Amino acid sequence: MLVNHQQYRTIWPNFEYVQPCVEVIDQTKLPHAFEVARITTLAQMITAIKTMQVRGAPLIGAAAAYGIALSTLDSCSDRHLQQSAELLIASRPTAVNLRWAVQRMLSALLRLPDAQRQSAAWSEAAHICDEDVKLNQAIGTHGLVLIHAQYQQKARTINILTHCNAGWLATVDFGTALAPIYAAHNAGVDVHVWVGETRPRNQGASLTAWELGQHGVPHTVISDNAGGHLMQQGQVDMVIVGADRVTATGDVCNKIGTYLKALAAFDSAVLGHHVPFYAAVPSPTIDWTIDDGLKSIEIEERGAEELSWMSGRQADGTMATVNILPHGTQVANPAFDVTPARLVTGIITEQGVFAPQQLGMMQR
Ligand code: MRU
Repeated sequence: MLVNHQQYRTIWPNFEYVQPCVEVIDQTKLPHAFEVARITTLAQMITAIKTMQVRGAPLIGAAAAYGIALSTLDSCSDRHLQQSAELLIASRPTAVNLRWAVQRMLSALLRLPDAQRQSAAWSEAAHICDEDVKLNQAIGTHGLVLIHAQYQQKARTINILTHCNAGWLATVDFGTALAPIYAAHNAGVDVHVWVGETRPRNQGASLTAWELGQHGVPHTVISDNAGGHLMQQGQVDMVIVGADRVTATGDVCNKIGTYLKALAAFDSAVLGHHVPFYAAVPSPTIDWTIDDGLKSIEIEERGAEELSWMSGRQADGTMATVNILPHGTQVANPAFDVTPARLVTGIITEQGVFAPQQLGMMQR
């Protein structure tokens, strides 16, 4: 059975259960199993964010909003909500959407009397989700123009390279980097996607390839190290990635390895290929308080086990996890990097496409 975003969002509330709760697509099970996880407490939501049952900047923002709604089931006092907010913000440090969503929840709730806070929390979280869907659809519309221009000029398949997963699984629906690609495919533009596997967690190989396959978009998984080579060979027409945080000056923080793709795209000009590098970014991903991504963005350091262990499905259908490192090997696992604005061709937002130095022209 095909599963795609016409049937599911990634997160939704369930008011039919014994208590109000939240359900999510469990992304740790994909691509081998499609499972829905039920989340009934704030603590469970924090675990879901940390273990990446839910992941992707816009989705962890939405999940954190529902985390606050779940915490109102215990208490609606100022102190309790503020403590819940701190725990959620600390669960993953790099994507600014999480802090943005939590602060929006607090400012909506703290001005209300306690008795009104619970129902207001569920409805504000739902608004955040609905808005995310609209922002991503608009990103799709603006990004489609860029892809279509390439298609008209070249009159052949347009090859787009992406990294990690910035599709509908990383958002409430539609995705950011993949929204223009879905829009192009749906409009009959001949697109093919190079999908970087995205070690160590393989969000490209596991999630982006799964999504694109479910939607029927032609794609090919490549090792993370192949992107530069393909760009030198003229086999990439454009790079589109998502972001976890963008500075006011257009520095783009995204999944580790993004910077190397941007460097290769920049250098492709020397060979005459001029591969443009775009980040697709809804406005809650822009951190207007900072202007130097390298100095100001905390880069999440994740566990060594993500590098030392690999898991997957064996030929007999059972899952297996194996260690690939010599015993006792030291491991470093920074999860994100910063691509400086000078390497970024444009930022595709819900308000249109901006050169990094023009980002300040966006309406806030
Ligand atoms: O560690 P993850 O899987 O949460 O990282 C996700 C990414 O880096 C995405 O590219 C980013 O969040 C943009 S999602 C629309």
